[in-house]
Amino acid sequence: MLAIRELSFSYGVVQTLSGVSMQMTRGQVTCVMGRNGVGKTTLMRNIMGTLRASAGEITLGDRDITGMQPNRRARAGLALVPQGRQIFPRLTVEENLRIGLQARSDGRRDIPPDVLDLFPILKTMSKRMGGDLSGGQQQQLAIARALVGDPKVLLLDEPTEGIQPNIIQQIGEVLRQLVSVRQMTIVLVEQYLDFVRDFGNRFYIMNRGRVVADGPAASLDANMVNQHLSV
Ligand SMILES: Nc1ncnc2c1ncn2[C@@H]1O[C@H](COP(=O)(O)OP(=O)(O)OP(=O)(O)O)[C@@H](O)[C@H]1O
Ligand SMILES: [Mg+2]
Repeated sequence: MLAIRELSFSYGVVQTLSGVSMQMTRGQVTCVMGRNGVGKTTLMRNIMGTLRASAGEITLGDRDITGMQPNRRARAGLALVPQGRQIFPRLTVEENLRIGLQARSDGRRDIPPDVLDLFPILKTMSKRMGGDLSGGQQQQLAIARALVGDPKVLLLDEPTEGIQPNIIQQIGEVLRQLVSVRQMTIVLVEQYLDFVRDFGNRFYIMNRGRVVADGPAASLDANMVNQHLSV
């Protein structure tokens, strides 16, 4: 569904991604792992188009999206739940969700009820300010805002960061539903190993802007974790 080939990117003179290639399959959760600062968020921004790769190719289905503007990528079916959530604190929950509608290609102007069914808490809090939600609730709002755009590919950048276990579990169940009911393609940047084992299908491990290991999520073993992930 989503393919990245030999992607490279530099912030000025600092090369941050070097020849990254990955395949994200429809109906699967593909996990991108790696220590702090290895380039995971930079990769997500290159996929969304807010950063421009210096070399390489990104395809969505059979479309080459490498040169496309971010808003066109969103309408082509990509959505990102950014690291740190980036909720608008002075807009209500409902207003935050409405922002997600801009990504739709069909011009729909009401919030699809099935998105709220995935996160019932957002229904009861629709008039609350985004900034007054707890961290876990904000994370759910950020995921819902991305889903309002009806994406084919959902990118999540460390959705479990700073979130307590029961909400992590709820988020995992939502991802599972998106895969089984909608056959969505999910790309999950994640450092929490148990979450990858429970909800992931495949993994890629990055180090210093390169892919250094990949395989089925079930095959992640202590050896690989020691070598590439533990600090
Ligand atoms: N705007 C920027 N200008 C220059 N360098 C940057 C910029 N943003 C990030 N970097 C650097 O690029 C490298 C990769 O950063 P990135 O945020 O992609 O890492 P990450 O894997 O997402 O880390 P984390 O796990 O902490 O979120 C880091 O060395 C970082 O300092
Ligand atoms: Mg990051």
